[in-house]
Amino acid sequence: RSMPWRKRWIDPKDFEGREQELGSVLGKRAYEVWVSEVMLQQTRVSTVIPYFNKWISKWPTVENLAAANHDDVLSVWKGLGYYSRATRLHEGAKAMIAKSFGSSCLLPSDATELQEFPGIGRYTAGAVSSIAFGKAEPVLDGNVARVLSRQLGLYMDVKDKKASDILWEQADQLIKRVSNYTEASTSAIPGQWNQALMELGSTICTPRPRCDECPIQGTCRVYSEGQALSDKRQSPT
Ligand code: ADE
Repeated sequence: RSMPWRKRWIDPKDFEGREQELGSVLGKRAYEVWVSEVMLQQTRVSTVIPYFNKWISKWPTVENLAAANHDDVLSVWKGLGYYSRATRLHEGAKAMIAKSFGSSCLLPSDATELQEFPGIGRYTAGAVSSIAFGKAEPVLDGNVARVLSRQLGLYMDVKDKKASDILWEQADQLIKRVSNYTEASTSAIPGQWNQALMELGSTICTPRPRCDECPIQGTCRVYSEGQALSDKRQSPT
């Protein structure tokens, strides 16, 4: 599906000898992923798109956002709801600029470093690190949690702390294996993998899933156990 924050993967090899240019291109990309992920946290893709475009044309870089007037930030956000998200983005941008002493618009690529900024939690850090920088970092939001817990047959409340610890660990192991398989050929994979899980969870593996359309039905534990149950019911022995 086409979304303005989804762009062609940048291969660092294409920027040999132009490291500074690569840095600013990746920094801009990371900023866009960050903004989009915060907007998408409580809002649908189709609603977010026009807000995202307006935001990025008003503040194309972290520096621009850090220098913005807070009332302007809130007024561009107007209509999206959950205004603390806008404030967190603004605070985060100011903290990044303070930390980088004003030099270029680079966000860190490391998920742990990203989480040092206000408003960037584990999910957002993983999304920026994997989608913008191609690092093998997991993401877990409600959609991904639902997909993974069904695939694994977890049968736990995914909002429960114990379940979410298990799911983060599983998401981490999966993304590491995925990026090992494909090493060298394309480091775009971790970001695509994470976004594929998000999209599967928001379109097919929904609370009332459409298993018939699911491309990974074959590996799904909950699906196969449900099938086994209904087979038994249809042909009692
Ligand atoms: N929901 C949250 N982040 C998303 C992304 N990057 N693509 C699609 N849906 C999302």
